[in-house]
Amino acid sequence: MQFSIFDNPLNSWNGASLVIGVFEEDIFECLEKIGFIINTKLISEKIIKKNFKGEKGQNLYFDILDEKLNSFSLIGLGKRNTINNDSLRNYLSDFGRKILDKENKISILLPWQDLDRDAMNVAYEAIRLSTFKDNRFNKKKDEKSNLQEVEFIVENKLSTISFKESESLCEGVEFARRLVAAPPNSLTPLDMSVKAKEIAKSHGLEINILEKEQCKELKMGAYLAVAKGSDLDPKFIHLIYKPEGPVRKKIALVGKGLTFDSGGYNLKVGASQIEMMKYDMGGSAAVLGAARAIGGIKPEDIEIHFIVAACENMINGSAVHPGDVIKASNGKTIEINNTDAEGRLTLADALTYASNLKPDTIIDLATLTGACVIALGNDVAGLWSNNDLLAKELVESGKKAGEYIWQMPLQNSYKDGLKSHIADMKNTGPRPGGSITAALFLEEFFDKNINWAHIDIAGTCWTDKNKGINPSGATGFGVRTLVQWIKDS
Ligand code: BES
Ligand code: MN
Ligand code: ZN
Repeated sequence: MQFSIFDNPLNSWNGASLVIGVFEEDIFECLEKIGFIINTKLISEKIIKKNFKGEKGQNLYFDILDEKLNSFSLIGLGKRNTINNDSLRNYLSDFGRKILDKENKISILLPWQDLDRDAMNVAYEAIRLSTFKDNRFNKKKDEKSNLQEVEFIVENKLSTISFKESESLCEGVEFARRLVAAPPNSLTPLDMSVKAKEIAKSHGLEINILEKEQCKELKMGAYLAVAKGSDLDPKFIHLIYKPEGPVRKKIALVGKGLTFDSGGYNLKVGASQIEMMKYDMGGSAAVLGAARAIGGIKPEDIEIHFIVAACENMINGSAVHPGDVIKASNGKTIEINNTDAEGRLTLADALTYASNLKPDTIIDLATLTGACVIALGNDVAGLWSNNDLLAKELVESGKKAGEYIWQMPLQNSYKDGLKSHIADMKNTGPRPGGSITAALFLEEFFDKNINWAHIDIAGTCWTDKNKGINPSGATGFGVRTLVQWIKDS
């Protein structure tokens, strides 16, 4: 999809499909402005007849058989004082999906002067991401959707607008969505490492893939305990972005990378949706998607490490038994009382590895617990942090980017739930507060002086229905928050 800006005098515009966004208060004034293109009187009558009032998210499409204009659409922006980037994003997303198969090129005129400074970037991202399609695995593979070109019309020349960062961001989100949506027989730990290598090569990042033997040398007993039940070798992925100049801040992003989670011997049964567990690498998809976006944006003076301990949670003759005691790379022993709490085991060694790099901040993202889905549903991710400022920043960055995150407590009194009679801890606590004990477990595996945040995206990495900027399927959740936070920090 191509995006461009038309900033010549409005009356010299002569495209074929016009879209205008209008506030409830001034639909008819807006129409007058474009009276040289359409028959304002006729359209006004139709608008009244169709009961279009410019209300939030309302939209109207006119097929116009005119020699000049093919179609004319209206998008309701609600009342002038209620618009913000978040609502704009949703209105344009709904509209984008509607127009996708109707037009080849559209030109959009919005009341830019009444919108946020970065509204055009929001519009770019909304239209591009909401109309994203993934037909890799069906016969529509080579089909292009109809909509190929989007032009934004501005009446007064704005300060120069660039879509470059939005483009990198969207590439990152789309990349993450493709990783998440790929079935487990098509995206294995090896495939994931190959994808990471491709990013490194195309975007100038350093990369180091640790093989099983190297993980053994580093004594990653928790990660390897999970991986050993699979016939596929684990791949520990470490990508590094280094800025050109001096480094002011060093951060590590860690993503849970289970390319499939069967539950292990505590097999996922009943309504546990084992067939959806390809998306158990949603955290690593967000981290690799962010790597790709950052590789394009190239922020100054911040060094970023992207870490994924990729593997599968499967069952074979050498798979971990429920009850096994293993030792993580920081020396702590863990009684595995439930093999389905595998994500935290892989993260334990990934966090220790990240901690040894001595970053200022570690952020991990993981489809970690069903309990988080029960608590917050599918639109909101849970966040735990040992630093309230970091937590606030991430919630704020999420809000700006259109990803909702809610801070949850690191309730220390629940640590008791992880006590083991035989080892330093168990990997699973009681069912109540299950996402909190998961976070408390993770907290055992890095240097306490490092600022850390954990984001549980079990509910948000996938959507069954089209919703806002996300078409049904993988959302790529996390990429936008991470990139926003990096840009703002
Ligand atoms: N990958 C799952 C969590 C999950 C569940 C993600 C549903 C997305 C949707 C994780 O590995 C898991 O199985 N967690 C267990 C933990 C339990 C055994 C303490 C869970 O949530 O049931
Ligand atoms: Mn599991
Ligand atoms: Zn899992």
